[in-house]
Amino acid sequence: MAGLPADFMQGLEHIQLPPGSRILIHGGSGAVGSVAIQFAKRVKRWYVTATCSPANAAYCRKLGADAVHDWRDAAALPKLYSRQPFDVVFDVVGGRTTRDSLAYLKRRGHLVHVLISEANAADLLWMYLKGLLGLGPRLSMISVHPNGRGLGAIARLLSAGTLRPPRISATFPLERASEAHAFLEGSRGPRPPGKVVLQVAHPVLASKAAS
Ligand SMILES: NC(=O)c1ccc[n+]([C@@H]2O[C@H](COP(=O)([O-])OP(=O)(O)OC[C@H]3O[C@@H](n4cnc5c(N)ncnc54)[C@H](OP(=O)(O)O)[C@@H]3O)[C@@H](O)[C@H]2O)c1
Repeated sequence: MAGLPADFMQGLEHIQLPPGSRILIHGGSGAVGSVAIQFAKRVKRWYVTATCSPANAAYCRKLGADAVHDWRDAAALPKLYSRQPFDVVFDVVGGRTTRDSLAYLKRRGHLVHVLISEANAADLLWMYLKGLLGLGPRLSMISVHPNGRGLGAIARLLSAGTLRPPRISATFPLERASEAHAFLEGSRGPRPPGKVVLQVAHPVLASKAAS
């Protein structure tokens, strides 16, 4: 389960919409988005549109995206979709992407947001209140609170083959965590897409391997 953004499902699983409902997943090629695509497609059976770089479009389609859009051309999204707005927008990008999403989200649609910070808290609170009053989309904000129930649900979907974990671009032992940071910051050139995993040596397994 290394690299799996474990609690992202909280934001999608409570949304009760019929198969065929339309979701836009921003950042579909990333760790969170790649699992959200699979969950929306295979568990919810929704029609999935994802944003990513053109180089990652095939990856998103393989995960189950029905349509893919280049995030660098995000200005085209309102034109393309304001007449056929989405039921759900899943946002891992924040800022302008969140605000622009309102132009192609149904008025009583769902905006699922995974990035809560001091910088956007006031904006999000305002959107949340408008949603409660029926004046805008309903906003769900996800923050990770690891819990046994969530991890158990993910483990079952993984063992059933319904979900596949996100790509892993590199693995470092915990003692080399500073190298992992350097890798993420690109000091050795551009990093390939995917999660970077820190491996924690398990004392029992390590002693069995040594004996
Ligand atoms: N709230 C939570 O519980 C929670 C949990 C996990 C992560 N997060 C947050 O969620 C965010 C995404 O995490 P991640 O691990 O999925 O990141 P990631 O693996 O680095 O993926 C980033 C995604 O965003 C796309 N992207 C990059 N720059 C963009 C831009 N300017 N506009 C639109 N799309 C852009 C990338 O597309 P390409 O690579 O195809 O260009 C990729 O699909 C992070 O900020 C992380 O902190 C929150």
